[in-house]
Amino acid sequence: MKLPKKLVIASHNSGKVREIGELLSPFKIICVSAAELGLPEPEETGKNFVANAELKALAAARASGLAALADDSGLEVSALRGAPGIYSARWAGPEKDFNFAMKQIEEQIKLTGSKDMSARFVCALSLALTADQCHSFVGTIDGNLCFPPRGNFGFGYDPIFVPTGERRSFGEFDPAEKHAISHRAKAFSQLVEFLKP
Ligand code: IMP
Repeated sequence: MKLPKKLVIASHNSGKVREIGELLSPFKIICVSAAELGLPEPEETGKNFVANAELKALAAARASGLAALADDSGLEVSALRGAPGIYSARWAGPEKDFNFAMKQIEEQIKLTGSKDMSARFVCALSLALTADQCHSFVGTIDGNLCFPPRGNFGFGYDPIFVPTGERRSFGEFDPAEKHAISHRAKAFSQLVEFLKP
C-alpha cells in the first residue's frame, strides 16, 4: 500500500494531533489537522472506539478530498466497569477540564468501595484513503491509576495512569518514552505494517 503524500489528522484535540504528528514525522507526510482546515467535528455516535474512529476519518476524507487519519481513544477503568471508555472526552465537560474528569474518576471509584485500581488506555486509529474506504487498527496498554495526579507531560488522563511495570505516570514520561509503549503507538505500528509495500 502506498503512503498518501498529504493527510488530514481528523481531530480537534491538540494533544492527539501533536502525538499523531510526532508518530508520523519519520514518514515525510504533509499533515494538516481538521481544525486547521475548518472541518466540522462529527457527532461521535458510534458504540465503540473503532466505530467512532471510522466515522471521524470518513467524514474528514469526504469533506477535504484528502486521505484522513482519525483516532478514537479513552481510558477504561475496571472498577467502573470500563467507564469512562468512549465517553472519556465527555467526562471533562464542555470546558475540557481534565482535572475535573480525573477527580470524578477518583470519586466514582471511592463510591464503588473497590480497591481495584487497574485500568487501560485504548486507541483505535482509522485511515480513510478515500471517502468510502477505511482501515482500522487498535492498540491498548494496561496499568494502574494513581491519585493525586502526577506530572505535566502528555494530555488528558496521563497524570493518573501508571503503565504496568512502571513507577511513573504517563504525565511524568517524556513524549519519546510514551511513544515507545503507548496504546496510540501500538495502533500506529499496525498501521505502518499495513502500509508497507
Ligand atoms: P475522543 O477520542 O476524542 O473521544 O477523546 C478521547 C479522550 O480520551 C481524550 O480527550 C483524552 O482525555 C483521553 N485519552 C485518549 N488517549 C489518551 C492518552 O494518550 N493520554 C491521556 N488521555 C487520553
